[in-house]
Amino acid sequence: MEQRTLDDRSGGDTPRTAPSDPGDATGPPPGDGAMPEPLERAVFGIHATHAVQLADRHGVFAFLIAHGASRTGSIAAATGTDEETLRRLLIALQAFGVLTGDDRDGYRVPPESAPYLDPDSPRYTGAFLQHLVTSTSGRLPQLADYVARGKARVDADLPAPFDAMYADEGSTATFLRAMWQLSFEVSDELVALAGLGAARHLVDVGGANGPFSVSALLRTPALRATVFDLPHVAPHLARSRDAYGLGERLRFAPGDFFRDELPEGDQLAFGYVLSDWDDDTCATLLRKARRACAPGGRVLVMDRLFDDDGHRPLATAVMNLSMHVETRGRHRTAGEYLGLLRDAGFTDCEVRRSSREKHLVIGHSAPDGG
Ligand SMILES: C[S@@+](CC[C@H](N)C(=O)[O-])C[C@H]1O[C@@H](n2cnc3c(N)ncnc32)[C@H](O)[C@@H]1O
Repeated sequence: MEQRTLDDRSGGDTPRTAPSDPGDATGPPPGDGAMPEPLERAVFGIHATHAVQLADRHGVFAFLIAHGASRTGSIAAATGTDEETLRRLLIALQAFGVLTGDDRDGYRVPPESAPYLDPDSPRYTGAFLQHLVTSTSGRLPQLADYVARGKARVDADLPAPFDAMYADEGSTATFLRAMWQLSFEVSDELVALAGLGAARHLVDVGGANGPFSVSALLRTPALRATVFDLPHVAPHLARSRDAYGLGERLRFAPGDFFRDELPEGDQLAFGYVLSDWDDDTCATLLRKARRACAPGGRVLVMDRLFDDDGHRPLATAVMNLSMHVETRGRHRTAGEYLGLLRDAGFTDCEVRRSSREKHLVIGHSAPDGG
């Protein structure tokens, strides 16, 4: 029996013949028949995030970092985990390149990954992983609805982004811990890039539990800072203030930047805030910042940046998808942020890049307030 090929559906009048076995109809796949590695990693990525988070949660990485190369049996005994499950977890983590070694010579955390997996390191990423697994992954199925019906129609029936994030004390704490881990260490560099030596009053809009403000205050003795954020954040900022002994230099101003004007200062910071919102909302927030900014002061936008082609780096591309389901925002190129700042009336706008994933875009408020 002859079968018509897919091409024939377009109505060609000289149908080609195809073998009767449908498996042969399209011929052999290109290459050696194995799935290309980027596709393989993407297909199995769902396992990777969960495996990394589970190993982190049960202290597997902490144990390996403290004890060096170790076999499954000793890791299972030390962490109180089921040996057979752990064996499979370690094999998968090794296959993804998260671990090196094997069960004969022992598994190891590669030195370049240790800062991100060591709970005692300032780059530790455990709370962010927990947020991905307990919050983001639960919301990703929303993408299917967005694809079918559009984000605006679906979101109309959902709580506003931060109402969902702050729905209970557990998710509030996990989210704010994740923010601290994503933002505190790089803030050292951002403070240096910003050059806050002459600054007097930093207003950290959506400053959360204070990763940027704390870093700025620790490095700038004459500075004081006000974190302006939703009331839920107050006890978390108070803990940071007390932990770093900042007293009256770090204040909290509860408010809603959609309803309220921003507190006045000479440095208005937006760290990972504008990427939560669409361009019109950003324009509104930046106009408020312009009104609150002392003449000669500055706005400091700190965020991930897309390369000019809008496709890289990978973390920005993936977080851009996260922004779609978790917020109303998106990631932008440096040029797009510069445009937003200029449209809001800031001048001498410029980009200063850090060595990490959060960069600085600065705009100046004219000295005559014009
Ligand atoms: C993604 S977090 C950024 C935290 C921190 N600035 C950083 O760089 O890590 C966004 C912050 O905006 C705050 N936020 C969201 N909606 C707000 C609103 N309507 N008014 C004031 N703050 C708001 C959130 O509470 C949260 O702290």
